Amino acid sequence: MRKIIFVTGNPHKVREAGDILSHVGITVEQNNCGYPELQENELEPIASFGARWAADKLDSEVMVDDSGLFIGALGGFPGPYSAYVFDTLGNERILKLMEGETNRRAVFKCVIGYCRPGEEPYLFSGEVAGEIANESRGSGGFGYDPIFAVGGMTFGEMVEEEKNRLSHRYAALSKFALWLKKGH
Ligand code: IMP
Repeated sequence: MRKIIFVTGNPHKVREAGDILSHVGITVEQNNCGYPELQENELEPIASFGARWAADKLDSEVMVDDSGLFIGALGGFPGPYSAYVFDTLGNERILKLMEGETNRRAVFKCVIGYCRPGEEPYLFSGEVAGEIANESRGSGGFGYDPIFAVGGMTFGEMVEEEKNRLSHRYAALSKFALWLKKGH
């Protein structure tokens, strides 16, 4: 079975990706070596730089995942700064920022970067439209899952298979899986 190294510190992402890519005969192995995260307003250059850097460092084909939550009423905040904002403010403070706001639309985006040593990276993006819940609900998943709802249910309330059918990560990984299946 072909094995692709997934450079991330997040075991949840690895489990979700492993689940989805196993359908095309790929296993995913986590590597925690990290990579420099560019400060950009888009996810694509961050994933692109990270994938190329990690492929060269590990001398292996690698994948990385850069994701972000873009909240409409907050002008797309926190977007590419989602990890920093989650660590500093957290879900409860985001809910406070959204208090009294009727436009609760938000989009979760994921960009998968894939690269082989010495080559150009390939990018696969996916997104899911949803809304910011009025309160945190559910204990499943990770990160913003308890406050991001699709069809009235937060990702935190869904079982993993359900989230994996709907999520931004699933959308990006499906494109990646199709591309791998074509023999790349
Ligand atoms: P990064 O891609 O690891 O930089 O993630 C950005 C932020 O979004 C982190 O705080 C993650 O916990 C969060 N995040 C990424 N993907 C998801 C997801 O599928 N559900 C909920 N939060 C996520």
